[in-house]
Amino acid sequence: MRTQVGIVGAGPAGLLLSHLLALRGIESVVVEIRSRAYCEARQRAGVLEDGSVRLLREAGLAGRLDRQGLEHGGIYLQFAGERHHIDFRALTGSRTVTVYAQTEIVKDLIAQRIADGAAVHFDVSDTEVADLTSDRPVLRYTDSDGKRNELTCDVIAGCDGFHGISRPAIPAGLVTVREREYPYAWLGILADVPPSTDELIYAHHRNGFALHSLRSLSVSRLYLQVDPDEAIEDWPDERIWEELGSRFDLPGSGWELNQGPVLDKGITPMRSFVSAPMRYGRLFLAGDAAHIVPPTGAKGLNLAMADVAVLAPALEALLKGDERLADAYSSTCLSRVWRATHFSWWMTTMLHRTPGADDMEAALQLSQLRYVTSSRAAATSLAENYTGYPADVADELGLKLPR
Ligand code: FAD
Ligand code: PHB
Repeated sequence: MRTQVGIVGAGPAGLLLSHLLALRGIESVVVEIRSRAYCEARQRAGVLEDGSVRLLREAGLAGRLDRQGLEHGGIYLQFAGERHHIDFRALTGSRTVTVYAQTEIVKDLIAQRIADGAAVHFDVSDTEVADLTSDRPVLRYTDSDGKRNELTCDVIAGCDGFHGISRPAIPAGLVTVREREYPYAWLGILADVPPSTDELIYAHHRNGFALHSLRSLSVSRLYLQVDPDEAIEDWPDERIWEELGSRFDLPGSGWELNQGPVLDKGITPMRSFVSAPMRYGRLFLAGDAAHIVPPTGAKGLNLAMADVAVLAPALEALLKGDERLADAYSSTCLSRVWRATHFSWWMTTMLHRTPGADDMEAALQLSQLRYVTSSRAAATSLAENYTGYPADVADELGLKLPR
């Protein structure tokens, strides 16, 4: 079997890449180890930068996003019993973010790829990539009927997330990894209750960080900092609500946290990880396969989308014999990745409590939080990073999509 681009992984990166390539007349095959239902239900990110929304719109994928996405013009930072608004619109000249769940983006992408007759194979196993330095790299997998397949490709895109097989296929000696694990994790819940706030609340608290986000006007998404070795069984719903209640409490304000049935809960470890370069011969890595950020900056999904926005035109040119964009792919992406890695680390370390830390940490954090909420320059820096820097991947890089 033969295709132009073999894509490993049907997360946001792999699916969007397949669609962006199809817009350029390039054929691809996507192989995914999980079921379609699993991919569509996996609870993850929720915040889209302005540039990601524009990219989805330009790619003709924003029908539901434009109807159901919730535009947000800022966030709240809460600390020391005060809640401060950071007004993105005022600080950045009208830029915003949009709350639209990753589950919905994945559903929209799968529906579009299938409607367009694309090959997306779920429930595969034993994925392997080989001959990566030749101009006919090979993707092997066992399909859901148990049949072994071999796909000869022009290029392979490794979009298979942090635990995939693509990154480890690059010889270790050619890779530089920079990594930091944080001594905390996030316990996240999805709750069937209207959000108690008009904007996301990032709360610094002596018990640890908490985040109030949302999925719609009737469903809330909330997170608590917990120890990384914490077991979810030790967190019955009542304990979660009680702890969220204390961390978001604003004495004297009359503000209350709405509680409701918990629909989903899980614990996510936190790490920063960047593996460079993002290319080896005819294998190109995109999204979590190459880099991970802690979720405090809401960047993971946006980076995955930005990577493939750069990769699609680079592959189009490569397939026509011009390797210049492909050669620049890794460094082009890594510049945005490092900005997001720094911002995510900065937000994370400003807002979380390090277990065993002395009073110095909290004093420095509170000073930084006061600065960000009182200096226009500091607040602008947060706002421009949160809404996406550079602001628009397609415009900034001259990578306008074909219409
Ligand atoms: P993924 O979404 O991981 O997709 C990779 C796909 O490849 C998966 O479907 C996987 O099943 C498949 N795959 C893996 N191995 C193979 C294989 N061998 N063969 C074939 N397919 C394979 N970001 C935020 O901004 N905010 C958040 O709140 C947030 N929460 C998160 C919670 C969790 C538990 C995780 C893991 C991530 C979270 N992120 C969050 C990050 C964000 O969701 C990711 O950055 C985003 O999913 C990256 O998309 P991707 O397509 O690169 O990778
Ligand atoms: C989410 O809604 O899941 C979310 C929002 C903001 C973050 C992280 C996660 O920083």
